[in-house]
This record gives sequence, structure tokens and C-alpha cells, in this order.
Amino acid sequence: MSICTAFNGLTLHSPKAESFRRLLSSHFINHIQVRTAPFAPSLHLSRSPSKKERFHVISASAATPVAESSKLSFRSKKPEDINVLVVGSTGYIGNFVVKELVKRGFNVIALARERSGIKGRNDKDKTLEMLNGANVCFSDVTELDVLEKSLSDFGASIDVVVSCLASRNGGVKDSWKIDYEATKNSLVAGRKFGASHFVLLSAICVQKPLLEFQRAKSKFEAALAKQAKDDAGFTYSIVRPTAFFKSLGGQVDLVKDGKPYVMFGDGKLCACKPISEADLASFIADCVLSENKINQILPIGGPGKALTPLEQGEILFRLLGKEPKFLKVPIEIMDFAIGVLDFLVKIFPSLEDAAEFGKIGRYYAAESMLVWDPETGKYNAEKTPSYGKDTLEEFFEKVLREGMAGQELGEQTIF
Ligand SMILES: NC(=O)c1ccc[n+]([C@@H]2O[C@H](COP(=O)([O-])OP(=O)(O)OC[C@H]3O[C@@H](n4cnc5c(N)ncnc54)[C@H](OP(=O)(O)O)[C@@H]3O)[C@@H](O)[C@H]2O)c1
Repeated sequence: MSICTAFNGLTLHSPKAESFRRLLSSHFINHIQVRTAPFAPSLHLSRSPSKKERFHVISASAATPVAESSKLSFRSKKPEDINVLVVGSTGYIGNFVVKELVKRGFNVIALARERSGIKGRNDKDKTLEMLNGANVCFSDVTELDVLEKSLSDFGASIDVVVSCLASRNGGVKDSWKIDYEATKNSLVAGRKFGASHFVLLSAICVQKPLLEFQRAKSKFEAALAKQAKDDAGFTYSIVRPTAFFKSLGGQVDLVKDGKPYVMFGDGKLCACKPISEADLASFIADCVLSENKINQILPIGGPGKALTPLEQGEILFRLLGKEPKFLKVPIEIMDFAIGVLDFLVKIFPSLEDAAEFGKIGRYYAAESMLVWDPETGKYNAEKTPSYGKDTLEEFFEKVLREGMAGQELGEQTIF
């Protein structure tokens, strides 16, 4: 999501302002990414012919609500006989999920746009290369009829849908369009072509929904639960991860260059248990077959203890062998900016997204990405499950060596 347009008119050039900009960008988690250029939907599919015979080809008549085969549990089949549709397959996590499912031997149908990635930077060939090992179906998940036609033309039944869809610009309308509508389309189309299980990549912050994308995700989570309640042949797993590594690496190069590590308040306002894209993809792949993950909401973090921004900064300085140097920014600065934007949006409704981005920034500056304990009214690191083996320290080491390639949040020019 780019919020350069969000705060246009406001420019920051001083070193302090630059630090603040970096601080915001490192706190915007994934929800501040890139504005993707719109591409006309075009129906096209491409797949590895060698895999075709491994699909359960459906007849025209099977393209009616819920293919007969779905009544048999796919869980008793071998992975090579299970067809998994992945929507959001070209995203940061979705791409790793595709790789992991392919590695585990599933028949993967990866749905993609003809121009995928941040700002549509990947053409079809690049997309096919990225999704190597999967059967790629180019379509438009935002249009139910187009999606259904693509899947019908593809001629394969579906056992499981995995959604890693997310709005790339995080604006109010796009969040509802992708995190709710398009994700719901994938449920409806998946059901129509036989899917009896749905794995949703959601977010841990949905437990305290104050932002539009969180409300959109919550509404879809509720739709999934309702579907399972009304339909005995359908199950789901909702995965709610804590922070991704890419969301925490924004200051590595700057600190390496001698700049201070910037944080809000005393650097202890929030904490998270960062998880790598590979570990999260593995957890999501587990959800395809694990019976103990059926009809569950699954908060998940990476290995080790929860880390505050202060502790993340300390790790970084230790790796660099430098004396820690922090710049602490009062959180009230954000409250002031949000107040101004909320006022302006009443006069200029077009600033709706700008106001939303301010709230997103404020949320991640102060709210922990940990399980919320309603009994204590606090976040609880112990109640936040850990999974995987990759640590943030290893990730920082890698970024210090190789930079942030492949970990881009997108155009995150904030002001
Ligand atoms: N970052 C964090 O720390 C964090 C933490 C917890 C949870 N999460 C959640 O994790 C989820 C996924 O994150 P991510 O980083 O993997 O997302 P991402 O890299 O932005 O990927 C988004 C995916 O959705 C697709 N998509 C977006 N708009 C579309 C449209 N109009 N039409 C068709 N497809 C569209 C993208 O396709 P294209 O490639 O064609 O654009 C891409 O495949 C998000 O819901 C986020 O809330 C993030």
C-alpha cells in the first residue's frame, strides 16, 4: 500500500522527519504496501500438461453446486490426489504457500492475475516461473462469474481452497473488495467446484478490529464459520499470524548506515512474535490435512519470546557490534495527525483512505501482535503459540548481508 497519496500535501525533509517516516513505515506492517495499477481482467489459463491427468476432471454437469465427490472426505486421499486452489498465490505468503504445497505433493491450482505482484510488476511468464510446480489459472477473483468460468474451463474439481488474498493498497474500499468480497468469491466458487475445506490466511489483529481491513476480514471469518455451521460437509481453518519478518526489517539498512533505531514511546508499547514466510507457509499447509485444526481459529507466531521494538533494535545493534542508538517518538504525534485527518475527511471525503492509513499506523505503533486475553484485558505472549524455526535475528543477519530484496512492502513513501 502506498500512502504517498494519503498524506499528500504534507512533506517531511528534516532528518527527524525522515526518522519518523521510517518509524511509520516499519510499523505499518503489511497493510501499507503498494498501489497496484489496475489491469483489465483477462481470462486465460496455463498449466503444466503433465499434471492434467492428475486432476479430477469435472464434467459440465458437475459444475453445479457442490460436486458429488466432495462428500467423500479428501483427507483419506493421498496428497497427489488432492486438488488445492490457492488464491492470493502471487503474494508474499501465498507464493511460499504454493511452494510448500507443491513440495508436499498436492495438486496445486494457483489463481493469478495476468499482471501480478507489487504494481503488477510480473508478467505472465514471470508469474508462471514464480508458481513453478503449480497449475496456474489466470483469472479475476474479484468477479465471481469470471472466476467460476475460469475454474469451469480449467476442468478440475477442488478439494480445498487456501486464501492468501489481501488488499495491496489497504484503502477502505479495496479492503472490502479483496479481504471480504473477493475472498468470499473464492469460497462460493470453491464450494461450487467441490471444495469441502477452506484455509484462510487472516491476521492476529482481527481479534481487536478497529480498522476497515480488519472489519472486512472479520466479516469473512464469520461467513466461513456460518458456512460450516449450516453445512455439515464443510470445514475451515482460520490462521491468524503475528508480524511477518518483512514488516520488521525496514530499519536494518538505515541502522547499518549509522542512523538511530526509531520507535514510538519507550519502545515497549507493543510486541510481537515474528514469523518467517516459510514457517507460516508450512503452518498453513499443515491446515490442509490436520484434523485438529478443523473449524479452529489459529493464532500463530514464530519461535522464541515476544519482542518489543526496543528489543528488536537491541538485536540489530548487537549484530552490528554497535552501541545502541535510539530515537523515541511520542505516540501523541500520531494522535494529532489522525485528529487532523479525521477532521479533514469530513470536508474532503476523498481523504478517506489517508485517514484510514493514519489509523493503521497508530494501531501498529501501540497494539501488540499477540493473543488478546479478555480476562486480563491485556495481550498475552504465553498464550500466543509458536511455530517454526526461523528467528528474527537470523532474518536481520540475512538482511545485513543481502539487503531487503524479496521483502519489499511496496511503495511505502509515507508522506
Ligand atoms: N505483514 C504482516 O506482518 C502481517 C501479519 C499478520 C497477518 N498479515 C496478513 O497476511 C495477509 C497476506 O499478506 P501478504 O503479505 O502475503 O499479502 P500480499 O503480498 O500483499 O499479497 C496479496 C495477494 O492478494 C492478491 N490481490 C490483491 N488485490 C487483488 C485484486 N484486486 N485482484 C486479484 N488479486 C489481488 C495479490 O495478487 P497480485 O500479486 O496480482 O497483486 C496477492 O496475491 C494479509 O491479509 C495481512 O493482513 C500480515
